Amino acid sequence: MKQLVIVLCTAAVLSGGAAEGKMSVSKSPFGSLPDGRQVDQFTLTNDHGLTVKIINYGAILTSVRVPDKNGKPGEVTLGFDTLAPYLAGHPYFGATCGRVANRIAKGRFTLDGVEYKLATNNGPNHLHGGLKGFDKALWTAEPIDKPGAVGVRLSHVSPDGDEGYPGKLSVTVAYTLTDKNELKIDYTATTDKATPINLTNHTYWNLADGGKSDVLGHVLEIHADRYVPVDANLIPTGELKSVKGTPMDFTKPMEIGSRMDRVPGEPKGYDHCYVLNQEPPGALTLAARLREPASGRVMEIYTTEPAIQLYTGNFLDASIQSRGAVYRQHHAFCLEAEHYPDAINQPKFPSTVLKPGETYRQTTVHTFSMEGS
Ligand code: GLA
Repeated sequence: MKQLVIVLCTAAVLSGGAAEGKMSVSKSPFGSLPDGRQVDQFTLTNDHGLTVKIINYGAILTSVRVPDKNGKPGEVTLGFDTLAPYLAGHPYFGATCGRVANRIAKGRFTLDGVEYKLATNNGPNHLHGGLKGFDKALWTAEPIDKPGAVGVRLSHVSPDGDEGYPGKLSVTVAYTLTDKNELKIDYTATTDKATPINLTNHTYWNLADGGKSDVLGHVLEIHADRYVPVDANLIPTGELKSVKGTPMDFTKPMEIGSRMDRVPGEPKGYDHCYVLNQEPPGALTLAARLREPASGRVMEIYTTEPAIQLYTGNFLDASIQSRGAVYRQHHAFCLEAEHYPDAINQPKFPSTVLKPGETYRQTTVHTFSMEGS
């Protein structure tokens, strides 16, 4: 394996201070919300040719460009270059999902003897924070510029009762790009009443071409011996099952598409939560490794979360086009580091409850390299 060392960053327009080498962070207007508030885009570059863009609407990761084995940078995520399609509705491209990412059955739970009813936005269930989750909030943003890393820190206050959740929750998400080709996402949150919380990033990846072709030939490894079986509404049955001998098994590198036709459920593809082999719980652990043979791009994901949801863009249906690509079914995959779905209603699953006086923390790191040059 060879680290990315070829392409020099040429983004001379960037105005942010460069702490080290050619790293920089800059801010530019990205459009306005219907109420007139301005949305900004932050562009992070390092001196190995990586460029990462984030907007403060939804704390959305809008773009990641990474050199291929020949040193040519290319887009590796699905997303938009303008604000309008983000406002028009999209399936969580690059989004920060919360207060609770993934599903809560029937949008209900009981905490400290009180039953709470949440917004339901996915059939009978609550998904990714509800009708107006964190992916649709305008966050406050400030640039990060420190030795060896540039980034942006986004803050948001979710009021008591937001989408039905208890307590005023103060959240931060910091994206940093390092000179070691790491894209790091650090989350924190505090609350004034006990509340469930489960934050994740919902980037759609396609390491070949940013979504022009399918991802079935990407080679995937997930460090998980078990997964969370779900019912027809994608709600966990409560058990954990071994992946051994099933199409769910990615403990050894396998092409994403190699056994997809044997995965039960409609629409076709993976939409499953993997229980990571993590010792001790909460340790920053290698969760997944992706290799795209043609471009040579490799991405590893490390996380402090106990699980990772593999979603293979099963609901993409060619209705969205962007950046010269038609986003068809299986043209991207998401690997969402998080707690298990519906954990608030499943006493045996690791707890997602945050109490006053505690600080929620999660860190997920994506590292980029290349093979085969
Ligand atoms: C998650 C879910 C999927 C789907 C996508 C958004 O990954 O698990 O079922 O809802 O979000 O389209």
